[in-house]
Amino acid sequence: MDMASTLALALAFLSFFAAEAKIVEHTFHVGNLTQRRLCEEKVITAVNGQFPGPTIEVNEGDTLVVNVINESPYNMTIHWHGIFQLRSAWADGPNMITQCPIRPGNSYVYKFNVTGQEGTLWWHSHVSVLRATVYGALIIRPRGGLKDCPFPEPDHEVPILLGEWWKADVVELDNQAFLRGQGFNSSDAYTINGQPGDLYNCSRKHTYKLKVVSGKTYLLRIINAALNNQLFFKIAGHNFTVVAVDASYTKPYKTDVVVVSPGQTVDVLMVADAAPGNYYMAASPYISVGPQGPPFVNISATGIVEYLPVDDSSAPVMPSMPPFNDTPTAHRFFTNLTGLLKPGKPTVPHRVHEKMFFTVGLGRNPCQPSQTLCNRTRQAISASMNNVSFEFPTTVSLLEAHFKGANGVYRRDFPRRPRVFDYVNATGTLPLALQTTLKGTRVRTVKYNATVEIVLQNTAFVGIENHPMHLHGFNFFVVAQGFGNYNATAAKRSFNLVDPQVRNTIGVPTGGWAVIRFVANNPGVWFMHCHLDAHLEFGLAMAFEVENGPTADTSLPPPPPDFPTC
Ligand code: C2O
Repeated sequence: MDMASTLALALAFLSFFAAEAKIVEHTFHVGNLTQRRLCEEKVITAVNGQFPGPTIEVNEGDTLVVNVINESPYNMTIHWHGIFQLRSAWADGPNMITQCPIRPGNSYVYKFNVTGQEGTLWWHSHVSVLRATVYGALIIRPRGGLKDCPFPEPDHEVPILLGEWWKADVVELDNQAFLRGQGFNSSDAYTINGQPGDLYNCSRKHTYKLKVVSGKTYLLRIINAALNNQLFFKIAGHNFTVVAVDASYTKPYKTDVVVVSPGQTVDVLMVADAAPGNYYMAASPYISVGPQGPPFVNISATGIVEYLPVDDSSAPVMPSMPPFNDTPTAHRFFTNLTGLLKPGKPTVPHRVHEKMFFTVGLGRNPCQPSQTLCNRTRQAISASMNNVSFEFPTTVSLLEAHFKGANGVYRRDFPRRPRVFDYVNATGTLPLALQTTLKGTRVRTVKYNATVEIVLQNTAFVGIENHPMHLHGFNFFVVAQGFGNYNATAAKRSFNLVDPQVRNTIGVPTGGWAVIRFVANNPGVWFMHCHLDAHLEFGLAMAFEVENGPTADTSLPPPPPDFPTC
């Protein structure tokens, strides 16, 4: 080959790679925004004057750079939910876990590579309850674009962000909840792309509309951004094919109902193959708590699928939603999904180095003196994993303490196993002594590249409930799920070690258990917590400290220069 063609070839190569991995930049101005919903005006915290916030779109392999400028009155962080943050733990975002918050008037640039994952994720604030309105979609397409997805290329893509709306100020509600030592008030409405829809008062104008063309295929990227509610989602007259969950491809799964826990995403293909007309899409609550559960709104959020040309003369058809306590439907959906095996994609590890057993659930603790409204006869609600109720550090983030080897910030003795008792069959009647939780900031340290298996077991201290457990920094394989007390011998028979679904958030069955496996290939400190925000505040959390690997390439680099300090 002559010089010129060698050069041309080299240039072609260079431009090929330049087009492959790009830098995607965004600026997030976080500040006040006035919105009208449910007949009332209210000031919320939002990004760039948009609610829901801006959709971020990248291709796998890109670098994402987001300058977050905090013009709000609150401390702020942004978490990129489901992003691995491989060797970029400093950009993960949970307040006081990986960083101190961005103070009002300050900014921080989150910078990370998006590699090895494709599909629908999302971003949200990770400070107190601010994620109620500070959230948006994060879409990762394959390097070559949508056509390279392992399913027929859709004609259109539509983010569907499910949320909750409170008439009251959420920060004030949160303060009240703490003083009472009880849960956060239930929301006043569920929302679809920020809109409650016309089953609620004054909401005809606040209804999301999706215009469709007969015969076209739509990729709906459904995200549950609600603070405290798992949701059923349906569209009248239409079926779905699930093709991915939590940005992990699944074998195609046909269903007319989707179940999605806070933190989870579900990608479905929907063909506009109904008779032209108007159809409601609806999101209604899945409440997994027993009869003693707290109150909730039982009105569906709705949007309207309108066939073009729009004909307003016919009222939309409403789908029949599952009853709020329809655990069989939820369980069928959650357990029927399997992962799509793709060459080059990690498969479930068969050898386990670290076996852990974590109980998850609510308990009770004596009211603290500062909880002035707390009912002293009833005690305050507290939540725990293995009887430890997580306390956030106050002076330095766990990740910074880990990196600097600082002492006294956290302990490395998060229990590997809980106290043993009948976890699920004695709702509300277990002795108080058993329910009382220790408070503490304890982590479990694991070696770089260790394979970890965790059995997550729900407890019935206060009431059984499906807890959506989210792990930062990793995807995990959902090896098995079931009801009752975990029995290793019986459970083993149901282990899927071939094509389990891959997730970052698992709804542990109410009064039941789930077994997950992941490879700790990402050095840093990684939060694991219930994605029902109220439960996180009660302490339903722990963290993994993953040690550095043997090389610079497998170690956590130092924090960026603008890293926020406390
Ligand atoms: Cu989506 Cu720790 O959160």
